[in-house]
This record gives sequence, C-alpha cells and structure tokens, in this order.
Amino acid sequence: MKIACIGAGYVGGPTMAMVALKCPEIEVVVVDINEERIKAWNSEKLPIYEPGLFEVVKECRGRNLFFSTDTKKHVGEADIVFVSVNTPTKTHGIGAGRAADLTYWEGAARLIASVSTSSKIVVEKSTVPVKTAEAIGKVLKRNCQDPNVNFEILSNPEFLAEGTAMEDLKHPDRVLIGGADTESGQKAIRTLAEVYAHWIPRERILTANLWSAELAKLTANAFLAQRISSVNAISALCEATGADVSQVAHAIGTDSRIGPKFLNASVGFGGSCFQKDILNLCYVCESVGLKEVADYWLQVVSMNDYQKQRFVERVIGAMFNTVSGKKIAVYGFAFKKDTGDTRETPAIDVCKGLIRDGAKCCIFDPEVKAEQIFRDLSAPKFEWDRPNYSRSQSHMLENVQVQSDPIAAADGAHAICVLTEWDEFKHYDYAALYEKMVKPAFIFDGRNILDHAKLREIGFIVYALGKPLDPFLVKGY
Ligand code: UDX
Ligand code: ADP
Repeated sequence: MKIACIGAGYVGGPTMAMVALKCPEIEVVVVDINEERIKAWNSEKLPIYEPGLFEVVKECRGRNLFFSTDTKKHVGEADIVFVSVNTPTKTHGIGAGRAADLTYWEGAARLIASVSTSSKIVVEKSTVPVKTAEAIGKVLKRNCQDPNVNFEILSNPEFLAEGTAMEDLKHPDRVLIGGADTESGQKAIRTLAEVYAHWIPRERILTANLWSAELAKLTANAFLAQRISSVNAISALCEATGADVSQVAHAIGTDSRIGPKFLNASVGFGGSCFQKDILNLCYVCESVGLKEVADYWLQVVSMNDYQKQRFVERVIGAMFNTVSGKKIAVYGFAFKKDTGDTRETPAIDVCKGLIRDGAKCCIFDPEVKAEQIFRDLSAPKFEWDRPNYSRSQSHMLENVQVQSDPIAAADGAHAICVLTEWDEFKHYDYAALYEKMVKPAFIFDGRNILDHAKLREIGFIVYALGKPLDPFLVKGY
C-alpha cells in the first residue's frame, strides 16, 4: 500500500511520520508545493519544532517515509491520499472574517483528479466546514478523465495538540473516521481503520457518517476554547473581587463532571484552530438560519479578544497610564510552550496594543525566529494562513526589537510581560534582572507561572492574571 499526504505542515508532517513509524510495510510520501519546506523536512533542521518528532523522522526517512515536491507522481501512485493543506479564514467576499477559504483544498482536489488513474480513498485531514466532502466529491468526479476511477471521501479529523503532537499521535483518546453510508464508503472506512489498528486499540477507532465527523472536529475545538473563555471571564471577576482564579479552577475541576483540564486562565487562547474553527462553526450556523446559535459561539471568540485587550489595558493602567517611549520586555511569543508556532498567538494582539500606545517591545522567545515575529506584527488579521501574505502594517515594526537573550531583553526595561508559559521562564534569576530594569519595575504574568511572592520580595510590582491585585496596582489603577 502507498499513502500520500498533500501538505507538509504541522498536521501532515507529524501524522505521516507516526504512520510510517508504526506501519513499516506502507510507503508514506508527504508532498508540498513549498520547496523550502520539503527541503527542511529532508534536512537535520525540520521546519517545525515538536518534541520527539526529529527522532521518528530520522528513523523512518529514506526507509518508508519520504518528503517530496513531486506531487503528481506520488499522488498518482497512492491508494490513500490525505489532504492537510491550509484552510484560511476568508478576508473578503461573502463570509469574510468567518467562512473558510477553500482555495487550497480545491487546488488539492483538482490535482488528485488530474493525476488519478486508479481508484483512491481521499482523506480530509485539515479542518473544513461541514459538508465540504460533498463539494470536494463533485470536483473530483467532474475533473477526472478516467470513468473507471472511483473516489471515496473520508473525514478523519486530527485532534493532536502542538507541543505534544507525537504523544497525542501515539496514544490518542480516539481516532474518528467518517464516511458515506454506502457499501464502498464502509469499505473505505475499514481500509483506513486497518492502518490505525497497527498501533491503536480497535475500541478507540470510532466511525461516523461524514457530516458527523466534520462537525465533531469543529465542536471539539469550540468546547475546548469555551472552557478557556469561561475561566478567563471568571479571571476578570476574580481580580475585581479579590478571589483567586487558580483556587476557583481547582475547586470546580475536582467535580468529575467538569474535570480539571483546560481551566488555566491565560492572556487568551491562540493556535491555528480554535478561533478559525469557531468562526467556521458560526458561519455554518448562519448559513442554515441559526443566528442565535452562531451568536452563542461567537461570544467565545469575543471573550478571548476582551481578555487580550484587558491585559493591555492593565499594563498601561499600572504604568501610570502611559507606556509611551517605555521599553517593555516580552517573554514568549509562541501561542503556547514547546512550539515555535505563532499562528493567532495572543502575543500579536498584546504587542500591537502596547505599541499603539507608544511602547517599545523587546521580544524574546526560545523557539520563534525573529523573522516570524516581524512577519506576524506587520500582517493584517487573518492573513497568516496564506503563503506570501502582505505586510501592510509594517509601521508597527519601528517599535519592535527581537532579542535572543532574555537578560538583554529586560535590560533598561520598565516591565516584563510573560505571554507564553515556557518552563525556562520560571527559573530565571529575577533578582539580577530587577537590577537591570528601570524602577518601579513591573512584571505582568499573563500565564500565572511565576513565583509571585518571591518577585514581590525582590521589589517587583506584580500583576498575576486572575489573582488578588498587588496593593500598588489597586491604588494605581
Ligand atoms: C488545539 C486542540 O487541543 C487540538 O485537539 C486540535 O486538533 C487543534 O487545536 P493546539 O491549538 O495545538 O490544539 O493547542 P492547545 O493545547 O489546545 O492550546 C490552545 C490555546 O489555548 C493555547 O494558546 C493555550 O495556551 C491556550 N490554553 C490552553 C489556555 O489558555 N488555557 C488552558 O487551560 C489550555
Ligand atoms: P496545518 O497546520 O493544517 O498542517 P500548514 O499551513 O502548516 O497547516 O500546512 C499546510 C501545507 O499545505 C503548506 O505547507 C502548504 O504549502 C501546503 N499546500 C497548500 N496547497 C497545496 C497544494 N495544492 N499542493 C501541495 N501542498 C499544498
């Protein structure tokens, strides 16, 4: 059997590496139109950082795992074609700011149709709005010259989280495969299930109809994001009342009906999925006339925007209502720890907010490259998921510096803002950093990871998200 995957990104790369590792008799080829990306996958420095990924790639690459730009050859030869291309949010036209732009998906479908001389199973891996499979089916059928070629479309949404992708792929809570309720649809489901059964217990391989599988992915992300927005809403109330959001979260998380996960208050959720998938869900709801349902879910995104704005206002308010000309060290730019990914990271909106008020942001992140930070801070909303996006906001960059050293970033700064929960931030010598900073020196902990009592002892004025406010901040704000 031969598997091809279109799209060598955060989903396609790690997923195919795991399939190759666990199924040595299957040849797996990951293809992409981006030559640089494929070159990186074939090098010692992979294009994405993911703990444990390099080891697996090293073991399988050249054995039964290949990365190539020859899309036609490998897609043409494959029995199963996974599609994990970008699905950006539309920026103009009908559904702008909500609907998914399926340009890349359609491009992939046309490619499959044009090179297929044998029947194939086409697997939707990248999140797409409900009923996309139907549209893709039509593109495939109408564009394939050979009448004997049959395409069976499956939805097999990916639930891995970045930073823990390899672990999630190795031991998933479940694998979900959706397919048509026809005999050939069920056969295709069984074929794909067979691949996963190499390492995943059968009872964890769930099957569903196509639409259920597509909707399950959007719903899972909406539910997860909703928990974060819910706890973030409570974090604002905690600060206003003197409660402690960690204590509230712990108390509710011990209720087995609620559960302890995804209750960390933060400066906001980021990542390529949550906002995009909720906006998609809302668009689907609106398209079928369910405005109230769309409004309900949209509030999860609004609360996330509010949290980022609230953080910016807290920083400015605490620093005597002016950050103009002040250097602010930003620790962490990735949307979460253990990844170099910055897609929809809350750091973008926070830095833009501070810069708009005249601050000079000096950014340090252990994994994110300077070039990426500059791109993110000069790109308009929703542009990140398009190759070669524009940089219409380049004026932002005049007040941005990127440092590869956390000490240099804090040198001469008035404040440190912690925006990503990287473990190393916990172990810095904050007493030494304090000496180098302008007084009063502030720390704004947007992830609640630092030892706040110790920082106060050193002399810092500390803002800890969702915690009782430092007496200085109560008076000052
Ligand atoms: C998410 C889903 O978890 C995954 O199943 C789906 O396939 C893709 O989207 P990912 O975006 O990689 O994965 O990261 P996740 O761990 O879900 O975190 C998303 C954001 O929420 C991050 O910015 C994270 O910092 C934030 N978060 C998470 C919180 O603010 N608080 C929490 O308690 C948990
Ligand atoms: P994800 O996080 O869903 O994996 P990425 O943006 O990281 O998304 O990866 C998507 C990849 O798909 C990109 O590397 C892009 O170049 C690739 N891609 C998009 N369209 C096509 C296509 N028609 N053929 C091959 N690769 C494509």
